[in-house]
Amino acid sequence: MQERLQKILAKAGIASRREAENIISSGRVAVNGVTVSEMGVKADAGKDRITVDGAEIRLETNKVYIMLYKPAGYMTTLKDPEGRPIVTELLKDIKERVYPVGRLDFNTEGLLLLTNDGEWANRLAHPRHEVDKEYHVRLQGKVSAEQLRHLAEGVELDDGMTAPGYVKRLRESEKNAWISITIHEGRYRQVRRMCEAVNLNVVRLKRSRYGFLELGKLMPGEYRMLTPSEVERLLMFKKGIPGR
Ligand code: URA
Repeated sequence: MQERLQKILAKAGIASRREAENIISSGRVAVNGVTVSEMGVKADAGKDRITVDGAEIRLETNKVYIMLYKPAGYMTTLKDPEGRPIVTELLKDIKERVYPVGRLDFNTEGLLLLTNDGEWANRLAHPRHEVDKEYHVRLQGKVSAEQLRHLAEGVELDDGMTAPGYVKRLRESEKNAWISITIHEGRYRQVRRMCEAVNLNVVRLKRSRYGFLELGKLMPGEYRMLTPSEVERLLMFKKGIPGR
């Protein structure tokens, strides 16, 4: 089937359609060995050899959508130059080449989606989509009402103010406090930086919810396929379920 190159690149998870246009216009894409830098050119991903920076792209036909309970100590990348464990090593019986939707830090655990559907991943990861993400945070020591209010209203980070979120106290022991933070932004190390900004020391960080999806009975390292209705509902899901 003939399709525009930017659509093929998006489907292959290379970039969003807009970014794909930039990649094409900068001369990084070739079809059957001929560089294409103008917009509107069509190709057939099933027949033509399409390369980006010389590497051939592959379109998966069988789309898979996975929810993984990422354990701490895994990289959310497809390769790690330092040889640390990567999340796809946990997907023992998945033969499709899937990649993570967004990221969790090496030391962060919890709900991570993976797919080989580039368009779905790009739509979910787009800032406009604003899916709520809930994190459970174990803190060293106690947390004051003032610190919780500050986190909920938004804190100043070096890349700007965070949007207001939903914060609640879960429990407390002699040494630790557990809180839940629900945000819809997804900036680099956002929850850790928000806590640092109000002088809170994060001991453990877990993403417990992504939109309406929760980990349920999954244990660290376990995963399950999303149902077709979950796949569809996630695209429609916007922020709005307050942190429950
Ligand atoms: N916030 C963080 O600080 N780390 C993550 O992995 C996710 C959100």
